[in-house]
Order: sequence, then C-alpha cells, then structure tokens
Amino acid sequence: MPPPTTLKPPTLSPKKREKVALAPGHSSLDWASLKSSGADLRVSLFSCFWSLFLGGTTQLMRIPPSVLKLHNKKDDAWSAINGKVYNLTPYLPYHPGGERELMRVAGRDGTKLFALTHAWVNVDFMMDACLVGFLVSEPSS
Ligand code: HEM
Repeated sequence: MPPPTTLKPPTLSPKKREKVALAPGHSSLDWASLKSSGADLRVSLFSCFWSLFLGGTTQLMRIPPSVLKLHNKKDDAWSAINGKVYNLTPYLPYHPGGERELMRVAGRDGTKLFALTHAWVNVDFMMDACLVGFLVSEPSS
C-alpha cells in the first residue's frame, strides 16, 4: 500500500498523467470559490431540493460498501478515500486529471488509486465540502 501522503514525484509515466483541458470557469481557484460559496456540495440537486423542502439538515452517515456502490453514476458519484466518503459529482468538471479518471473510483474505495496517482494532493482539504460520511464495514445480519 502506498503512503497516504507523500512529496515524492509521481512514478507513473507522463503518458498516464496527462492533464485534460478543463472547461472555462473550472480551474482550481474556481473550485475553491465554489467550496466557500456556501453551496451544499454533499448532496445531489434532487435530494438538496427535498432537504430544503422538508427543512432537514445534512448529517454525516455511516456508509457500508454495499451502499457506496449504489453511487456510481456521474450525477451521483461517491468514493471513499482514507475512510471518508465524498460526493465526487460537483468536483468532476474541476478535476485536472479529467472526469473519466475520477469516475474510476465512483462507487468504491478509491484510497489506493488516489495514493498511486497523487498522494501529495490534500484530499481532506480539497473535498471537505463534499464529505457525506464515513466508510464502515458491512453490518452483520
Ligand atoms: C477526490 C479525489 C481526487 C481529487 C481531489 C483529485 C485532485 C487532483 C488534483 C488537485 C490534481 C492536480 C495535481 C497536480 O497538479 O499536482 C489531479 C490530477 C490528476 N488526477 Fe486526480 N484527484 C482525485 C482522484 C483521482 C483519481 C481516483 C485518479 C485516477 C484514477 C486521478 C487521476 C489524476 C490524474 C491522471 C491527474 C493528472 C494530471 C497531473 O499530472 O497532475 N485523480 N487530481
């Protein structure tokens, strides 16, 4: 298992680490300002509407792998990284490595792939506004 964080330069070949062209308005600074705008990035638009309508608050959840794997679509993509489950959907158009790469970890534990590609990226900080809960083991029936 690679270390959770490192300053070591990437070991992947440059071909595998191609940057993609992000749409205008989707730089890392744009992501930072969206995060600090107060928008609720934890939920999809649909559940955001219902939580506003019902007056509910967003609570962090305990998420077993069987629930995580239901969230594997672009408009509802979750991934667990270092035990924390993030809603990837709002970040997809901002990811410098592209949507397709990020979707590889949708619905599953992305810790290993994340650490292999860029363990120097501070995921806790970058995705704090997208935290939906914590990965737990499957409840025994
Ligand atoms: C929530 C999870 C993720 C976050 C917050 C994230 C964030 C970032 C950031 C900030 C960069 C730019 C890094 C730099 O310039 O040094 C980047 C680049 C990249 N990411 Fe991710 N990433 C995530 C997940 C992934 C995953 C799971 C993969 C692979 C399957 C991946 C593949 C790449 C690639 C290939 C680049 C390439 C461009 C480069 O060389 O910087 N990322 N990502």
